Amino acid sequence: MADKLIIFDTTLRDGEQSPGASMTRDEKLRIARQLERLKVDVIEAGFAASSNGDFEAVQLIANQIKDSTICSLSRANDRDISRAAEALKNANRARIHTFIATSPLHMEKKLRMTPEQVLEQAKQSVRFARNLVGDIEFSPEDGYRSEVDFLCRVLEAVIDEGATTINVPDTVGYAIPELYGNFIKTLRERVPNSDKAVWSVHCHNDLGMAVANSLAGVKIGGARQVECTINGLGERAGNCSLEEIVMAVKTRQDYFGLEMGIDARHILAASRMVSQTTGFVVQPNKAVVGANAFAHASGIHQDGVLKARDTYEIMRAEDVGWSANKIVLGKLSGRNAFKQRLQELGVQLESEGEINAAFSRFKELADRKSEIFDEDILALVSDESVAHDKEHYAFVSLSQRSETGERPTASIVFTMGGHEVSGTSEGNGPVDASLKAIESHAKSGAEMVLYSVNAISGSTESQGEVTVRLQNSGRVVNGVGADPDIVVASAKAYLSALNKLCSKADRVAAQG
Ligand code: KIV
Ligand code: ZN
Repeated sequence: MADKLIIFDTTLRDGEQSPGASMTRDEKLRIARQLERLKVDVIEAGFAASSNGDFEAVQLIANQIKDSTICSLSRANDRDISRAAEALKNANRARIHTFIATSPLHMEKKLRMTPEQVLEQAKQSVRFARNLVGDIEFSPEDGYRSEVDFLCRVLEAVIDEGATTINVPDTVGYAIPELYGNFIKTLRERVPNSDKAVWSVHCHNDLGMAVANSLAGVKIGGARQVECTINGLGERAGNCSLEEIVMAVKTRQDYFGLEMGIDARHILAASRMVSQTTGFVVQPNKAVVGANAFAHASGIHQDGVLKARDTYEIMRAEDVGWSANKIVLGKLSGRNAFKQRLQELGVQLESEGEINAAFSRFKELADRKSEIFDEDILALVSDESVAHDKEHYAFVSLSQRSETGERPTASIVFTMGGHEVSGTSEGNGPVDASLKAIESHAKSGAEMVLYSVNAISGSTESQGEVTVRLQNSGRVVNGVGADPDIVVASAKAYLSALNKLCSKADRVAAQG
């Protein structure tokens, strides 16, 4: 039987560390459910000790997700490890992932510790974690830029203390495929007890080689776990992308000879969910999940594909979740059809009340838009800006006026802490006027660092999906709003970002 490649998804931890990609607890749970459908082996749900919000998210996911192993990151100290273990208490299968930097640069300049101190702390923390949870992953941060002799000593020692997975991060995305593959191979050959642990790769994409480096770590180095994120989300240029690594290993089974447990048919829905939740738009030419990934525009290619599909296609679009018939529901669709489509899209609403609320929003949308696409449904259920008891700000209504040669004005009604307020403002355009009208009451003082509009399903009939990124006191949050009227979508996105700004506790940097 072929070896198994373990897929470790860190969208909810390393992915979320990307500025502006922070997610609420409920958003994280929704994505975790989709990762479970995808049959990801390990879900790194967060960094429990970094904030109360992260602790609660890891705990919620550990309580609800039963098919995947749930993991929490933790620095190499007793407090972080205890917090992680506490958050994971109810998991079916729990893993603690502890890390400490081992490169000369990080040890000297960041940690201000000697190599001997780092070695001792690594051993001590794995020993401590091992008494709480059986499944322990250890990462030497900036491992790829560490000295091999020292790294071998650390890794041998932590395996002796009970680490069951050894992950070798290329933290800064400096590696080259062949060199990284050989690095993993050398470590496995030189660490005497290397056969007692599963070896894992974790590559950042600063030079655009995260997937290639990870594949080399698997093929040349013999790693049997890959750490990756949906859409390659992650710090700076991101991480190894799950959809690309999975489809590379599947499509080239002849070369890699590895099995995975992944159900790739859920890849596209996962990609859309992550993109809509974070506001990180997927580029059209992105492999596997980009809008053009399976589009054949040139006549020669179209002709070839019609005659024999494999002339130009190495994967089948439907195998990763693309469906030929994109129109899914309309005005006459009933509640059951809607509920079933939600299930197929991996959206699990908590109660019948939530399903009813989403269904009535669907009906409102169907009255204004004849064809409802999957993207519309996902936008509809992730729209937090409509009246919602638990949110501080909620959209109620908006009117705006603009005419050539005149300065636009907008009047908006929204709720703030349960009380309805209305504001009017002028602006450079109707969107500007609407957001200024909100600010006249909210007075957040936040700086807008990104504003983008995307037509959800491609035509002027489609809903506009707006992403607003706000920055305040060092925190960066994204708000996403969707509506056939892009001024309304903008107001919803702005209110959703304000909600995130006022709800999240401060976090500790994972790599600090
Ligand atoms: O990139 C990195 O080094 C990490 C570790 C915390 C595993 O994300
Ligand atoms: Zn990382």
